[in-house]
Amino acid sequence: MSDSHCTNSRFESARGMNFKWVRRVPDKQTLARTAADEVLQLSNAAIDERGVFRVALGGGSTPRGMYELLSDSMAARFDRWHFYWGDERCVPSDHTDSNFLLAQQTLLGRIPLLDHQIHRVRTEIGHPGEVASDYEDELRRSFDCSKGGIPRFDLLLLGLGADGHTASLFPKSAALNETSCLVTATQADLPQSDRITLTLPVINEARAVIFTVAGSGKASALQAVLKGLGKPQDFPARLVVPRDGTVLWVADEAALGSSRGEA
Ligand code: 6PG
Repeated sequence: MSDSHCTNSRFESARGMNFKWVRRVPDKQTLARTAADEVLQLSNAAIDERGVFRVALGGGSTPRGMYELLSDSMAARFDRWHFYWGDERCVPSDHTDSNFLLAQQTLLGRIPLLDHQIHRVRTEIGHPGEVASDYEDELRRSFDCSKGGIPRFDLLLLGLGADGHTASLFPKSAALNETSCLVTATQADLPQSDRITLTLPVINEARAVIFTVAGSGKASALQAVLKGLGKPQDFPARLVVPRDGTVLWVADEAALGSSRGEA
């Protein structure tokens, strides 16, 4: 069985343990509030049970409103939170495309935290492979997994790209098949193509995953993921199947379209 932060059992995907819900919300504002409330609930339950809440933040633009609401929350026990990233662009941490900068401006810079609570991806230390390896070392140190095993996040916050990617796991990329590293370097077809990302064994070891998806541009990818259309490698978010954890999709009407968002 897993200890509080690190699972040492061999990673096996035991389907059937995964519970997936879809929360349909009318708009982005309600999405932010709904997701923030879910994060708060999970954080306080984790702190009650294990004394700490370890969350991997998502990138892109969708999480902005949720982070801002969390920063204003009176219910959050931030002194017990540890912040990580599910993926990062290989840019300086003050670059407008940095996922760290998004979190710093909307959440971390607005709440009382000690340095050791923020586990930033050190993109400045070298090329993407070195950045990925350095972050893997940080995860192993922080989760006490230095002798092997897989860090078990209390929560992973993920988004969905219009092409079905999540974190920086892009369709048909070699990163989808990475099972020995916790973190790997990868490339996007988008601007800021060099990235690092948590690999699927880490993502699927999480106790909980919350996807936040907004806008009609995501509708076809969301439909493919929720309904299991196409090949999983073409829609990497479909490969997020925690072996012993929950998945919650918070999506607005524009992204869910007319289709019911049944899980
Ligand atoms: C990133 C993210 C990525 C993002 C989706 C959705 O670094 O870009 O991790 O997976 O969540 O691309 O991005 P938007 O929220 O901007 O639509």
